[in-house]
Amino acid sequence: MIPLPHPPRRISLANLPTRIHPLSRLSAALGGPEIWVKRDDETGSDLTGNKVRKLEFLLAEALDQRADLIITCGGVQSNHCRATAIAARRLGLDSLLFLRGEDPGTRDGNLLLDALVGADLRFITPEQYAARASLMAAAAAELRAAGRRPYVIPEGGSNALGSYGYVILFEELASQSAGGGPEWDHIVCATGSGGTLAGLALGAKLAGRRGDGGSNPAQAQVHGVNVCDSALYFRARAIEIAEEFRQRFLPESTAPLLAAEEVSVIEGYKGPAYAVPYAEELALIREVGRTEGLLLDPVYTGKAFHGLVEEVKRGRFARGERVLFIHTGGAFSLFPYRLDLVD
Ligand SMILES: Cc1ncc(COP(=O)(O)O)c(C=O)c1O
Repeated sequence: MIPLPHPPRRISLANLPTRIHPLSRLSAALGGPEIWVKRDDETGSDLTGNKVRKLEFLLAEALDQRADLIITCGGVQSNHCRATAIAARRLGLDSLLFLRGEDPGTRDGNLLLDALVGADLRFITPEQYAARASLMAAAAAELRAAGRRPYVIPEGGSNALGSYGYVILFEELASQSAGGGPEWDHIVCATGSGGTLAGLALGAKLAGRRGDGGSNPAQAQVHGVNVCDSALYFRARAIEIAEEFRQRFLPESTAPLLAAEEVSVIEGYKGPAYAVPYAEELALIREVGRTEGLLLDPVYTGKAFHGLVEEVKRGRFARGERVLFIHTGGAFSLFPYRLDLVD
């Protein structure tokens, strides 16, 4: 459907399509737009969340390159690292994870699952993490010299190939709308390394080019709520990924695929720092759990959903519009934050 001449190979890891359902009680209480949720937290159980869509493409390439070990990086409670370690093991591959921060000693949340599938865990300082690309390249070179066949996945799986998982989300949305489902004015997601936002923004743009005249959910405007860094950073990052995407998948297209004004990043909801929750966010996580039975996490979806709700109050999303929140997962990181979450 999307006119891409060189679609990459993909393996099946996620349970798709993911459900879409309304958050009726919450929407009524806010008195603004209809808020719906797309349950990408249900892409699987252990393999849950947005990263699974990216890994379908990234790990296909790793297998094509006959890799026997996957190297990647993230925070100590990285959902991406956990999903990568589990998916790799399922394919018979080892994994090496560079985790930013000190070894907490205990194995909880995502870290417990990393350990259970036998990932090689290396805890690194924030300074080392700042040079993560060269650190992973050096580790890969060392492993290659020792006879291994490593494949390196960047932070969050956020490159052109990984973002493909969200570019093609628009095919899934189109078929869900065509099947009698609603269409969207806005799509909102959490943004941590930029690949999901870049993929969605690109997907909306490319789906808009299809010109099939039918029901096209790509009329939706995509917004990322940043949970670290800044709007400026993520706008630039999304454009970088889009340019990598153009060179790799649409080389005959000479114009940039995305302009800065086509990437909407909603700023102001990351709180004190990445992975540091704040009172209003924690209160909202409890409220959404109690009113809708929907579990948000303190690192990504709690902050992004808080952004969505506050922007409804400010009028960015109007009454009569339909907003689709992509629930990108993260439930395992609820456990290490248990003391913040319950009285
Ligand atoms: C639960 C969850 N939501 C959202 C994101 C953000 O996605 P991205 O890294 O593609 O910006 C991540 C990963 O960083 C995540 O683990």
